[in-house]
Amino acid sequence: MFHRGRRLRGAPHLRAMTRETRLDRAQLIMPYFVEERRGKSSGPAPIATMPGQFRYSPDELVKALTRDTEHGVAACLLFGIPAEKDPAGKGAYAGNGVVQTALRKIKDKLPDIYLITDVCLCEYTDHGHCGLVGASGEVLNDESLELLARVSLSHAEAGADMIAPSDMMDGRIGVIRNALDENGFASTPVMAYAVKYASAYYGPFREAAASAPRFGDRKSYQMDPANRLEALREAAADIEEGADVIMVKPAGPYLDVIREVRDAFTAPLAAYQVSGEYALIKSAAELGRIDETAVVMESLLGIKRAGADLIITYFTRDLLCQGLL
Ligand code: PBG
Ligand code: ZN
Repeated sequence: MFHRGRRLRGAPHLRAMTRETRLDRAQLIMPYFVEERRGKSSGPAPIATMPGQFRYSPDELVKALTRDTEHGVAACLLFGIPAEKDPAGKGAYAGNGVVQTALRKIKDKLPDIYLITDVCLCEYTDHGHCGLVGASGEVLNDESLELLARVSLSHAEAGADMIAPSDMMDGRIGVIRNALDENGFASTPVMAYAVKYASAYYGPFREAAASAPRFGDRKSYQMDPANRLEALREAAADIEEGADVIMVKPAGPYLDVIREVRDAFTAPLAAYQVSGEYALIKSAAELGRIDETAVVMESLLGIKRAGADLIITYFTRDLLCQGLL
């Protein structure tokens, strides 16, 4: 006698009944880029490195979300692109900053969509680093914490439902948690980009957000792709400091890390299928070399099977609009 694995594969319903992993639309998060424009807006601006993605003005974003929520997009992650950048990233915590403005407009028109905001300085600093930069070009850790807390608080005040710090400064989760707690936002959850690698897969995003560092790289604060145990230390630290949800990023090239973090902690786990993962699939599909939808579904299933609960993916809208989930 041998094992007849095919017995359970013979019919669609049988396969469905015995399927171990499912994608759930409630667990997909769609990223959006919101851009501050001076003068008249000429419509959503296509992002060359990320076909199918756009930079929206706050009003255009409300329109896009109105349509996307009708198709079932339930949660979004907002990134801001200010009109002006400066060494301290002031636009990141300005009361009338682009994300703050968008948050108020969205909350007003679409109170039900769940609004998560990326908290970082790199889109707002002229040097493009995720924290303040010192005299000799080093990215200052402790000096940046207060600013990140201010950004987080300004987002919460403008209507953010969840705060997602992506900067990778040490200690920021605790400082942000404190600032939220002390200002009436004890119920606002924090999703920490806990395990964030210094990845070449962010390339298309940096073009989209104009946030590439002007000098150097992010290796002094983002993680070395070679490291697995370090992921556990980073996740432990962020949970200890008060993170409600932890994230591994990128997703596809780090499925082992997702599994490892899932097995070691009980907190809800998010995985970010980043811009480079998106661009690779889009490009190959445009060349006719792969079946886009099938590859997208398989890539997301892999991320889920590895242990992620939430998935942040630029494919969210496509999948939902096509009725695939
Ligand atoms: C900002 C930030 C980045 C991403 C999310 N937040 C870029 C970076 O760290 O350089 C990447 C997202 C993506 O590539 O889709 N710190
Ligand atoms: Zn950053």
